[in-house]
Amino acid sequence: MLEGETLNMFDLLSTYLNWIKAVHIIFVIFWMAGLLYLPRLFVYHYNATPGSELDTVLQTQERKLLRIIMNPAMFVALFTGLLLVYVRHAEFGENWWLTIKLAFVFILFGFHGFLSKTRKRFAAGERPKSEKYFRVVNEIPAILTIFIVILAVVEPF
Ligand code: HEM
Repeated sequence: MLEGETLNMFDLLSTYLNWIKAVHIIFVIFWMAGLLYLPRLFVYHYNATPGSELDTVLQTQERKLLRIIMNPAMFVALFTGLLLVYVRHAEFGENWWLTIKLAFVFILFGFHGFLSKTRKRFAAGERPKSEKYFRVVNEIPAILTIFIVILAVVEPF
């Protein structure tokens, strides 16, 4: 870069592409950890008597997991993901891997919203669905992550 030349935003982001991708993957891991752990807490919470000591402990864990880890991690994963789309969009062309990846990610956003709503219902003393239901839905983020990571790394089509 010549003396006095200013880097525009696109050039700046391109220069730090791998740093952005590293931050993206780090916060994706934090978000996935929460999406995998919160349904597990609901499995234990389902059998906890409303108002009991276990109920209070699980309410605190669920609230902190969502507000301190999952929500911020989801926003940083989204923000860095959109920066990556902006920097690399010229190369994507007809590549369907990103479109299909984002469709799966959209399902993860929906799942996050469902878990957030369910947390409020448990905090209100409700016991929605069943213990088996939360054991089964616990697999959704794990299965989606397998497809998303293969699409993002292999870029098969
Ligand atoms: C939140 C919305 C998301 C957007 C907009 C997004 C977008 C992107 C884009 C554009 C890239 C760059 C691809 C490249 O430069 O090779 C990328 C990389 C990556 N994304 Fe995402 N992503 C999102 C969420 C996720 C999620 C939820 C996961 C995993 C569960 C994930 C896993 C990855 C991985 C592993 C890479 C690195 C691929 C590589 O270096 O080869 N992303 N993402």
